[in-house]
Amino acid sequence: MTAITGSNRRHFLRFLAGSPLVTRAFAQTPFEITSPKDVLAITDLKELAHAKLPPAHWGFLASGVDDDLTVQANIEAFRHIGLRPRRLVDVSKIDMRVEIFGVKWDGPIYLSAVGPQGLFHPDGELATARAARAKKTLLMLAQGTSNSVEDVAQALGVPPWYQLYMPARWDAAERLIRRVESAGCRVLVWTVDWQGGRNFETSKRLSRTDRSDCASCHASIKSPMLNGIEGGYNMSAVTWEYMDRLKKLTSMKLVIKGLDTREDAKMAVEHGADGVVVSNHGGREVETLCATVDCLPEVVDAVGGRIPVFVDGGFRRGSDVYKALALGARAVGIGRPYIYGLAVFGQDGVERVLDIMNAELALTMRQCGTPSIAQITRSSVVLLDHRA
Ligand SMILES: Cc1cc2nc3c(=O)[nH]c(=O)nc-3n(C[C@H](O)[C@H](O)[C@H](O)COP(=O)(O)O)c2cc1C
Repeated sequence: MTAITGSNRRHFLRFLAGSPLVTRAFAQTPFEITSPKDVLAITDLKELAHAKLPPAHWGFLASGVDDDLTVQANIEAFRHIGLRPRRLVDVSKIDMRVEIFGVKWDGPIYLSAVGPQGLFHPDGELATARAARAKKTLLMLAQGTSNSVEDVAQALGVPPWYQLYMPARWDAAERLIRRVESAGCRVLVWTVDWQGGRNFETSKRLSRTDRSDCASCHASIKSPMLNGIEGGYNMSAVTWEYMDRLKKLTSMKLVIKGLDTREDAKMAVEHGADGVVVSNHGGREVETLCATVDCLPEVVDAVGGRIPVFVDGGFRRGSDVYKALALGARAVGIGRPYIYGLAVFGQDGVERVLDIMNAELALTMRQCGTPSIAQITRSSVVLLDHRA
């Protein structure tokens, strides 16, 4: 091993400082991160994932549509919600447990549908499932995965929630749903916010800079759940009538993902939804949508406690999660944060993301005098006027 002397150490540091990879990786993290335990916050992992992934994969993961304004809106909205802490409450024990459809979970943060995860780590969804199992965390599995629902259920120890994009042909939908039922899934999440086309501009720009061998990489990533879905999916002509058909077809709980308005929340309840997810697909479908946390109150009010309301989009801190719980969410989904962890450290990275965000949430609960989830209410937050 070569000893690092004062002078060659200086050369090495100068070389490192000049490397775009390192400048980018450590722009916000001027300390060395060699293992998950060195990671302090989700932003650290974002920088590291950026440095590690090929530009095309990074673009697909991190960006949105057009000028990425909906992605930014989701994240920035939390700054305009303040906390209202209560003092002198016994917060020696923090209880973050939540119950969803009769199942108890250790905390209200869940892993939302992201596919295909083979783009980000060779172990794909299996690594995520093992992390979710280790942290007793709810996993919503995407339809367009690199691993099958059967293999994921095995790695997870219980069947995941299964996310559906509506196949164009009803017989394909039936076959897929029967397969998901046979894998033991009890909850079907139908994503309704992507009905044809999207302008992935940043992602396309970055792809053009990518010198990787895309063909061989893509050939190695399988999509086992898309086999047999002839004719494509997410067709533009799909309406609420499909929901009635789905309700007749399966006895799984049916959750509608991608609602942002009181009108649609009411429709979902009328058509028999068992739950709704306030989501804009992480800003990946339409530009200049309102932040999901800003849409949450009107959906919660419209639903009126009849079914649980979930939310995802832009959650990067435990305090963000706290704010959504205060506004009536039963649980909060994360997408990109855990994929940053997956890309950098595989299963351990996903676990680290959950540890960090759960610890931040616990700390917020303690400091705000709300030791259980039920004690977090609308009076725990104040909406600051950010549209003036
Ligand atoms: C790379 C990527 C792939 C995604 N794939 C799916 C998908 O297949 N199905 C789906 O319903 N949502 C998908 N989503 C959206 C997430 O489920 C979730 O709504 C969103 O990521 C939440 O925003 P966040 O990334 O800011 O946490 C995807 C998101 C990303 C970033």
